[in-house]
Amino acid sequence: MLVTSALPYANGPIHIGHLVEYIQTDIWVRFQKMRGHRCFYVCADDAHGTPIMLKAKERGITAEQLIADMWKDHRQDFDGFRIKFDNYYSTHSEENREIVALIFGRLVSGGHVYKKVVSQMFDPQQKMFLPDRYGKGRCPRCGAADQYGDNCDVCGATYSPTDLIEPYSAISGAVPVLRDSEHYFFRLPDFESVLRDWIGSGAVSDAVAKKLDEWLSAGLRDWNVSRDQPYFGFEIPGLEDGSGPKKFFYVWLDAPIGYMASFKNFCGTSGNDFDEFWGKESKAELYHFIGKDITYFHTLFWPAVLSGAGFRLPSKVFVHGFLTVDGKKMSKSKGTFVRAATFLEHLDPDFLRYYFAAKIGGGVEDLDLSWDDFVSRINSDVVGKIVNVAIRCAGFVSKRFDGRLSGSLARPELFDEFVDRSDLIAKLYESRNFSGVVKEIIALAGLANQFMDDEKPWVFAKDEKTLGRCHDVCTTGINLFRLLVGFLGPVVPGIAGAAQTFLGESPVSWASLARPLLGCPINKYRPLAVRVRRGQVDAVLEASKVI
Ligand code: 2FM
Ligand code: ZN
Repeated sequence: MLVTSALPYANGPIHIGHLVEYIQTDIWVRFQKMRGHRCFYVCADDAHGTPIMLKAKERGITAEQLIADMWKDHRQDFDGFRIKFDNYYSTHSEENREIVALIFGRLVSGGHVYKKVVSQMFDPQQKMFLPDRYGKGRCPRCGAADQYGDNCDVCGATYSPTDLIEPYSAISGAVPVLRDSEHYFFRLPDFESVLRDWIGSGAVSDAVAKKLDEWLSAGLRDWNVSRDQPYFGFEIPGLEDGSGPKKFFYVWLDAPIGYMASFKNFCGTSGNDFDEFWGKESKAELYHFIGKDITYFHTLFWPAVLSGAGFRLPSKVFVHGFLTVDGKKMSKSKGTFVRAATFLEHLDPDFLRYYFAAKIGGGVEDLDLSWDDFVSRINSDVVGKIVNVAIRCAGFVSKRFDGRLSGSLARPELFDEFVDRSDLIAKLYESRNFSGVVKEIIALAGLANQFMDDEKPWVFAKDEKTLGRCHDVCTTGINLFRLLVGFLGPVVPGIAGAAQTFLGESPVSWASLARPLLGCPINKYRPLAVRVRRGQVDAVLEASKVI
């Protein structure tokens, strides 16, 4: 299996909105690996395009310097949140340059690309064409104000910048003029039946298929895949005869190809075979996790480009919604636009992972982070229910039983009941219904705590004659805890890793969870998670406020 998350732009830091996607992909990948699948997770910085060029200019550095700095920051943020990529690369790489050229060449020779002169918005003040999202105006379909030149955030329409009503340059504010330029167009409509078949194969959820159906029925349009200079990207090869000005590949052509390039780079260091995953006859599974705003690019352009260039198509594209904070869009002035790095200064990354998981159902719905709910769920579920089971047993085991588990369980049928639940939990993981996963595990945690309440090991501990029972009860508690944190491992890898250290285990596979730990030594308990105080959250919000 090859799994990807959307490539973050190299022009800004990772924030909690981004993390909804990386966390859910990482949970899914960790689960697949735990199940024993050969599964790789690759990603990269999306390093090209006008915003990056302008950001570098604003900082007085080269685009290359900017993307190198951003790459380091992004890596650090992802590491902080325990997002474990098998490879994290950049679209500004030799591998990507080569694959883009290969794909474009194949599209040209297949007759899927043609040249056409088009009139485009040109900023007379900045002396540049206004590509991508720098020509703004009202949406030609729904009339929404301040929409970008390629698609509308309000109604989802895609169009060309010249279609905008009352256009203005987002760089200088000047009213753009129209100027002619020759461009390369990809014949998307050539692929209508390929796309219909692909959608029919179950590559997207029903809700997404419905949206695609609307787009297909409205009619596909040719796609301009080139941009004029100045542009930070790959120059289109083969035009060096000087017959015209340089042209560059549009960032949205080379961005998804970055998935391939990152994997190719990984093959170079890991000995995996690129064609086994990307060749037309590939038997491997290919999954893309994306946000709903980039559905068009990943479910129409991308499969069409792959098909036209003779590569395999994605097995599935998983589309998720956006993050709201306390019911509202993230806002810099309210301090709810929280950077990954700011969160990490004050809070445990597993807590955000847990909270997001508890809210992710696997559909396209938006997800709300309510900070009060965050504090109460972490304290009541993670600390109060799960970690608590370990705390209730660990002291007895280390002080009374020399740090060693007993050879038998006090209630083997309870352990079996937990194990029996593992198939259902696995199904929920598989379908990305992480809120269902969390619900099941918390219900089990309730049973484990109930078991401790019923068995009262502290009473058995008082009498030499019942000390054996105390040992069995605590051993059972520890084993139930092991299952809880094992099942939840993909969600809270930090806590799970610390729990394994406590239990003296190396990372466990899903299957090996079914065998209890008996008669073996365990280590001294060290706190796995401590309660969150609302003050920590307030510190995050305060530090995130931009006035
Ligand atoms: O929307 C974005 O943030 C893009 N940088 C995502 C690119 S995903 C892939 F196609 F590269
Ligand atoms: Zn619109």
